[in-house]
Amino acid sequence: PRNIFFSRHGESQYNVEGKIGGDSLLSPRGMHCVWTSTLKRTIQTAQYLPYTKLTWKSLDELDAGVCDGMTYEEIEQAYPDDYANRDEDKFNYRYRGGESYRDVVVRLEPVIMELERQENILIIGHQAILRCLYAYFHHLPQVDLPYIKIPLHTVIKLTPKAYGCDEERYTLPI
Ligand code: F6P
Repeated sequence: PRNIFFSRHGESQYNVEGKIGGDSLLSPRGMHCVWTSTLKRTIQTAQYLPYTKLTWKSLDELDAGVCDGMTYEEIEQAYPDDYANRDEDKFNYRYRGGESYRDVVVRLEPVIMELERQENILIIGHQAILRCLYAYFHHLPQVDLPYIKIPLHTVIKLTPKAYGCDEERYTLPI
């Protein structure tokens, strides 16, 4: 089956003023923004989205240091103690020459502060990064954070409420 998605434009200045027709520009609220990391895979994902784009170094994936580019089997072979330590305390484990989830939570602080001031933002991020942001909005404990499921090809929509957060997921049929 094929899927056809329709979307209206973002809120325009005329929408705000209750005027019909015209050819006004978008209102500040209608001007959605897409935030990506500085890594090619998020920029490429966002490339055809017709929104303002902002790249954040702080949204880059957790730095696996000397293990960057290795498979989990290769890591277990080369650094068995590290592998076991990570299993023991995944939130605090810091890769040699790299980062821990705790480090990532700290570097995401400015992103979260800015996010709290914004209306509609789409973040195209990475697994570890989105786990941290997700845990922040859902108030999930740090020990559970590194195990949150953030699948590929799925849009997660969070709507923060006074207490907690509503959530919807849209799985893209790829
Ligand atoms: O494998 C994809 C990936 O996003 C890696 O780039 C990253 O190191 C990893 O997942 C994070 O997941 P975990 O902390 O479970 O290893």
